[in-house]
Amino acid sequence: MKDSIYDDFIENLRSQSDIVSVISEYVPLKKKGKNYWGCCPFHQEKSPSFSVTPDKGFFYCFGCQTGGNVFNFLMKIENVVFMDAVKLLAQKLNLPLPQREKSAEEVARDKELSKIWRANKMAEEFFYACLTKTSYGKPAREYLLRRGVTAESINTFKIGFAPPAWDKLSSAFLDRGIEPEILLKAGLASERSSGTGIFDRFRNRIIFPIRDLRGRVVGFGGRVLDDSQPKYLNTAETPVFNKRNILFGFDSAYKFIRESGQVIVVEGYMDVVTARNFGIDNVVASLGTAFTADQAKQLMRYTNEFVFAYDSDAAGQMATIRALSIVRNLGASVKILTIPDGKDPDGFITKHGPEAFKKLIAEAAPLLDYQVTQALNGIDYSNLEGKVAVVAKVVPALAEADNAVEVNAHIAQISQSLGIDESAIRSEVSKFLAQSQKDKNVKMGKTIKMVALSKNIDSAVIQAQRHIIRFIWEDDTIIPYIQSQLSLDEIQNDQHREIIKMLFDAYNMKKNIQSFVLSMTMNEAANTELSHILLIDIQHTDVSKQVDDCIKTIRLSYLNHLYEQHRLRADELQRMGDSRFLQELAESQRIKHEISKLHYL
Ligand code: CTP
Ligand code: MN
Repeated sequence: MKDSIYDDFIENLRSQSDIVSVISEYVPLKKKGKNYWGCCPFHQEKSPSFSVTPDKGFFYCFGCQTGGNVFNFLMKIENVVFMDAVKLLAQKLNLPLPQREKSAEEVARDKELSKIWRANKMAEEFFYACLTKTSYGKPAREYLLRRGVTAESINTFKIGFAPPAWDKLSSAFLDRGIEPEILLKAGLASERSSGTGIFDRFRNRIIFPIRDLRGRVVGFGGRVLDDSQPKYLNTAETPVFNKRNILFGFDSAYKFIRESGQVIVVEGYMDVVTARNFGIDNVVASLGTAFTADQAKQLMRYTNEFVFAYDSDAAGQMATIRALSIVRNLGASVKILTIPDGKDPDGFITKHGPEAFKKLIAEAAPLLDYQVTQALNGIDYSNLEGKVAVVAKVVPALAEADNAVEVNAHIAQISQSLGIDESAIRSEVSKFLAQSQKDKNVKMGKTIKMVALSKNIDSAVIQAQRHIIRFIWEDDTIIPYIQSQLSLDEIQNDQHREIIKMLFDAYNMKKNIQSFVLSMTMNEAANTELSHILLIDIQHTDVSKQVDDCIKTIRLSYLNHLYEQHRLRADELQRMGDSRFLQELAESQRIKHEISKLHYL
């Protein structure tokens, strides 16, 4: 617990609020049995699969698997962070927020941040007025017209123009009482190298305001009107702007991303502006080529399906490949849209229209297809060397993909194209997997920590873990028994481990486990999983036997994984002529023995 005044307040708020009436403000609900039902606001559906369980304080959608408590609902539907959801709910219930004393530094920092936001907002208006209302703006207006940027787009994105002068903005803002330090901190002005004073950073450029998810202007991108360099000048890093965690267009696209269940990630400002102009709304730009894990995580709050539509030049393709591994490692599904005629989305849509682009979206290739095509297209495999090179390139992709059907189809395709045996490719894939497992073990140091791959946990184990959580939820007095029987390491699924750990912690701290868990900000996946668990149908025939059966299932699966890993390790060591393979073998035998004992229990 981080902050006890707030924790108490939050718990109080949660227990006083009625989740049904809060959600009813957004979603019409009908009572059926103990639960309320409606059409899910987070995905499109015609028949209701969105449920609210008042006595547990949870909502859960069986269609899109979104769920959580009243705070999670507000966070999602209002698109706000946890503390703002708390404030909102407090407002709805007319409860004053507890006042925590802020330190002098915090007060000063808050003040500085709001000054920077204000200066940015004023700058946005300044640039916009300059483009739309002044004679300076004429060449920029003509430029945008030539590129097909409509008045509506200019208005939607508040596109502007920085006049070709050294200090138009600075002097106007200084006159209006903005401190020079704030203009410097906001990245709107720079210090003169000779003498004193400041000058405007953006001059003679089309200006694209960049907003955070809450719509606050955090920075700007400025484009030249001709071929001079640099083509784009962006706000450098400031207290409110970090290019790595901002996505251009996100503040107005998130609703469409959620509704369509998909996000189109493009490189540039103009790609977003043009796509939106033609009614393709679920688009964001990563502002250049580097796509970061942070950006991916923000998008994954709205969708798990990413379509990358980067420029078809070499830089764009390289960026695509980097972006892919980032997103796939986070567990999202990835497709790649290839633009046929060497253009970027802006160029393509302008030339061929939105329908042609939508067709490209629909035909976007799944990641593995793309990787295989890239390998086959990029290398001349008429000779042996080429074949080896193609195999080397596709093997990591095949090894990392998790859809076996897809992988098999591709192995068949590659084997046919290259004229080599499928089994040769398969054995390379196994070697690669064994090697990466070994690398992992090496990384973990001498004592090889065994971590099972959650991908391979079967559904019986998932089921058993869910039941254990549910039994604990309903009766926390069984916790000491479970703690004595099961260690957290044996829970092979991250979400379940997190939930169980939190339940154990609450119990150890003598808290009411339900309120404790509900008032904590758990990671989103764990939260959703918990709300799912609380809604599943569960029999209570003989709880203590049911608990024992669950523990047995979980332990067996864990031991089996452990056994496999020691065996694998023993094989490797033996191949490398390392005598420690004997210890590994002995350990695997010991585990095997334990497994057979369990089977007879
Ligand atoms: N970019 C940048 N600095 C540069 C070049 C590019 O920050 N010197 C970023 C911008 O966000 C730009 C994106 O990378 O929008 C893509 O670059 P590019 O394809 O060159 O620009 P376009 O968006 O296609 O711009 P335009 O159509 O105006 O040429
Ligand atoms: Mn481009």
